[in-house]
Amino acid sequence: MAGTAAEVTEDPLAARLAATVGEAHVLTDPDLRAQYEIDWTRRFGGPSRLVVLPGTTDEVAAVLRACAEAGAAVVPQGGNTGLVGGGVPRDGEVVLSLRRLDEVGTVDELGAQIVVGAGATLAAVQQTARAAGLDVGVDLASRDSATVGGMVATNAGGTHVLRYGGMRGQVLGVEAVLADGSVVSRLGGLGKDNTGYDLPGLLAGSEGTLAVITRVCVRLVPLLPARAVALLGVPDTAAALRVFAALRPLPSLSAAELMYADGLALVRAHADLGPPLEDEWPAYLLVECAAGTDPTEELGAAVIACPDVGDGAVATDASGRERLWAYRERHTEAISAAGVPHKLDVTLPLSRLAGFVDEVRGRLVELDPGATCVLFGHVGDGNLHVNVLGPAPDDDRVDDAVLRLVAHYGGSISSEHGIGVAKLRWLALTRSPEDIAAMRAVKQAFDPDGLLNPGAVLPPPG
Ligand code: MLT
Ligand code: ZN
Repeated sequence: MAGTAAEVTEDPLAARLAATVGEAHVLTDPDLRAQYEIDWTRRFGGPSRLVVLPGTTDEVAAVLRACAEAGAAVVPQGGNTGLVGGGVPRDGEVVLSLRRLDEVGTVDELGAQIVVGAGATLAAVQQTARAAGLDVGVDLASRDSATVGGMVATNAGGTHVLRYGGMRGQVLGVEAVLADGSVVSRLGGLGKDNTGYDLPGLLAGSEGTLAVITRVCVRLVPLLPARAVALLGVPDTAAALRVFAALRPLPSLSAAELMYADGLALVRAHADLGPPLEDEWPAYLLVECAAGTDPTEELGAAVIACPDVGDGAVATDASGRERLWAYRERHTEAISAAGVPHKLDVTLPLSRLAGFVDEVRGRLVELDPGATCVLFGHVGDGNLHVNVLGPAPDDDRVDDAVLRLVAHYGGSISSEHGIGVAKLRWLALTRSPEDIAAMRAVKQAFDPDGLLNPGAVLPPPG
């Protein structure tokens, strides 16, 4: 049930929003708001003033106009699968959930594109695209909950970036509502459109601080029916990187994921899975090849030529592939089941990634001998997910140590999860004062009153 009539009318903003979107779509009851007020990691969140769920772009515009007039800050939220606290309230903001904008349009097969509502889940769009012989270029483990609007707003990455690029690269157009309620729309899906500033590209990765994305025109890629997945045991990170470099020329290579024995053991215990290989290996590389015709032979030949591979398992049928992917994809849930992790998603130059891995583990143990560090990631992109269990969620020394080390190694403090509120303090480690000043100017131009997702992405000035 939504907030009672009495609760809704107690807050004049709630009453005005209820008149716009319907009382059932304005949540004031703390129990109903609760799931929108904490992020997936359970590390970030806070109370909201209310949660509003508009059902159309016009309703989103009316909600933003009402909030602007009331001077109410707004946190846009998609599937609430973000990992940096950028989609949850901190201090009494209005949560604007896009979940009801879940329309999935029809596939434009000739143009290889589809227009979808911001609240459509990735899985729903994949299903529609695949029925038409096409696919979405980005894929990630939270596909059943992650929404396309949220994925664009955070420029989500996932497992196929090395082949198709991140979410920004899949965006052919967006419709979005600005803080004052005006609507900008470029959904024509033109392959080329060189007419000034690229608003869709700018909104991708803006984490709800510039506008609220309501619809997206998504580029589609050919559906590749023949797939092979290999899980390879290797002696260390450097060996995994050498194997990746040897497989990189394969045109069918679609994913290259790294994990380690400790993470694999955690996943196995959590998901009750058997061992993937006969012996345990210090590190594992999971690779996927996808093509129009069976890529198993080309993958097999390339793997056999790699002296660093100690052992391997290959799967070509759907259930076998899913079984191998589970060892990698279930890391996130296995880690969260063990505690509230510090999740530090970072990029390293490939040439320095192995050195970073060795050093970061030592640093964390020095900092807190009780800390458990689980590493995994999209090694093809130089993207490591550093997960630290043990230290209290608000113990920023962990984040500080890891992110400073990343900067020292010439990396980026956020690879694909964004800045949110989790990494605000460290933005200046890998973005220059001039970069940050330019970002502030953009924010000021789009949202002069600072009502959209305040406190995310840009640290307070001074
Ligand atoms: C992943 O690669 O599985 C996601 O980025 C989630 C995570 O980092 O836990
Ligand atoms: Zn990831």
